[in-house]
Amino acid sequence: MIPLSVAYTPLRLDEAVLFAKTWQFPVVAETELPRPDANRQYVLAFTDERIELRSWYKGAPGPVYVDFVSGAADYRRLHGGGRGEMIARAVGLRKGVALVSVLDATAGLGGDAFVLASLGCQMTLLERHPVVYCLLADGLKRLAESPLQDLAARITLHRGSLLNAVPEWSEGLPDVVYLDPMFPEKKKKAQVRKEMQVFHEVVGDDPDGDGLLTRALAMPVKRVVVKRPRLAPAMTGPKPDVVLEGKSCRYDIYARHKIQSS
Ligand SMILES: C[S@@+](CC[C@H](N)C(=O)[O-])C[C@H]1O[C@@H](n2cnc3c(N)ncnc32)[C@H](O)[C@@H]1O
Repeated sequence: MIPLSVAYTPLRLDEAVLFAKTWQFPVVAETELPRPDANRQYVLAFTDERIELRSWYKGAPGPVYVDFVSGAADYRRLHGGGRGEMIARAVGLRKGVALVSVLDATAGLGGDAFVLASLGCQMTLLERHPVVYCLLADGLKRLAESPLQDLAARITLHRGSLLNAVPEWSEGLPDVVYLDPMFPEKKKKAQVRKEMQVFHEVVGDDPDGDGLLTRALAMPVKRVVVKRPRLAPAMTGPKPDVVLEGKSCRYDIYARHKIQSS
């Protein structure tokens, strides 16, 4: 396990203690946190405002938290390319297509899921890492309490993995399974966003990503979409039917059935 402590402000004591007990992390009041030193450590802080992941060592980058209501996610929602965005085309959203339901089986911090939900997709999210799940659940809670609550209602998060017994979710079978497992980071440290560096340090790689593709392709869905770094090899399995290539990433599309036009 990663060297992580859970910290809390008095208002969030119960939630923090429950999380720490469930996942067996030490728990400490925010005011009692030791000063950061040279050792790589992390703090999952339950504050009055939000839950955030702090890198707790000298010279560490700032905290990681999920914010759909302001900042980059909100800017992209308002000023992004709409259904012309590559991710929208990848899942089959285009003019005349009725609602597309997507199972994002590697939810992470929910960035892609939020883009798709803001373009009208019905999203079911799966995330297996307890810390990532906790950060995402907190971001979605704040989204649900914001004026964007309609958008929040299109996103349902579950903790679990498609690799285990297929979790039962009430949303029914999706049109599309979307996969974006972690990929070993090849870029020089300075080129990787600091937030992603921390994310990689805590989550690690997802070496079982190929199994996810096998599992997704066995589901009776219309298509499976895999997001990859642009130059990365495709996942082990059949060749994708269509590849959409962007500047830094690409989408490998495994089409099963045409998504119906309305
Ligand atoms: C690269 S991140 C996804 C980023 C996400 N697309 C976004 O926009 O924020 C990969 C995430 O998938 C999760 N993950 C990987 N394999 C998984 C699995 N089998 N089941 C559930 N979650 C998984 C990891 O814990 C990690 O949080």
